[in-house]
Amino acid sequence: MKDHFQPYRQTAAMRELFAETDVLPRHFIAPLFVQHGLTSPVSIDSLPGNYRFSPDQAVVEAKALHALGIRAVILFGIPDAKDATGHQAADPNGVVQSSIRAIRQAVPDLVVIADVCLCQYTTHGACACLDANGGIQIPPTLESLQAIAVSYAESGVHAVAPSGMIDGTLPALKSALAQYPDCWVLAYAMKYHSQFYGPFRSATSAQYDGHAAHEYSRAQHQIPPTQSREALRDALLDVEAGADAVMVKPGMPYLDQLAHLRQHTTVPLAVYQVSGEYAMLKQAVASGIFDDEWAVFHESFVGMRRAGADWIVSYYAKAWAEHYATR
Ligand code: PBG
Repeated sequence: MKDHFQPYRQTAAMRELFAETDVLPRHFIAPLFVQHGLTSPVSIDSLPGNYRFSPDQAVVEAKALHALGIRAVILFGIPDAKDATGHQAADPNGVVQSSIRAIRQAVPDLVVIADVCLCQYTTHGACACLDANGGIQIPPTLESLQAIAVSYAESGVHAVAPSGMIDGTLPALKSALAQYPDCWVLAYAMKYHSQFYGPFRSATSAQYDGHAAHEYSRAQHQIPPTQSREALRDALLDVEAGADAVMVKPGMPYLDQLAHLRQHTTVPLAVYQVSGEYAMLKQAVASGIFDDEWAVFHESFVGMRRAGADWIVSYYAKAWAEHYATR
């Protein structure tokens, strides 16, 4: 007898029988970038395989995702015009609001979540209103975030996802949404200050332009990568403030944090495989470092599920589900 022979690993059926972790279409939240005035979907160079959609094209995409068994989408808007306070984000006819209405009507079964942040909408690219020196102005920022969330709720969104990590966001949104008891909150509770967001910023043209100030940096509101206990404390504050589900972001470099948070809260946990992680894996496949793209992504998702994620936000959600359906 061999010392370390595992008889239950001998066949595929046994390995499947013994599997502790699964990945299913229902675990994914698919990101959708929406923009008014496109005649056809526009491919996003920094996120190969992803597109910007007009609201009517987003409906077609939402139907396809739903048919693959995906239960939820998260919408990111690309506005026609930016200004210093990101005022278009709360426009009732803004691209996110229009897409929410269109998708809710055409695919009533799909869960529609919308990202709440200012960075795509401000000329300076910050997630907040800034003073002349580039300092974050909390009260007007929170007022804007409230107006955005209310406009999404008015449009019929199921859930809002504040992604800016601005202090006081959760209580501000909960109070603004008190009149919309059906709308729940997915809080980006552990959002690290990360290099891995690069491709998203070019996809949404939300690059900080250095404008007004030299002080502003997302490091002022996002969590430093060195922090673990502090991140847990922040996340639990969001849960106490009424977050219905919480997110850890990025994914692969922060799986320890996901596992850590899993042990301290009972609300659903989402993990965001962010743009840089996606781009990195796609690039590695394109340059021949890996030969089986699906298997590589699948393994990254198994790791996230094993660490405790209930939901995975990934730019690979659709591609994963398409292949899964053919297996
Ligand atoms: C906006 C926002 C960002 C991401 C999601 N929402 C960018 C940022 O914080 O700089 C990044 C997502 C990704 O990289 O895929 N606050």
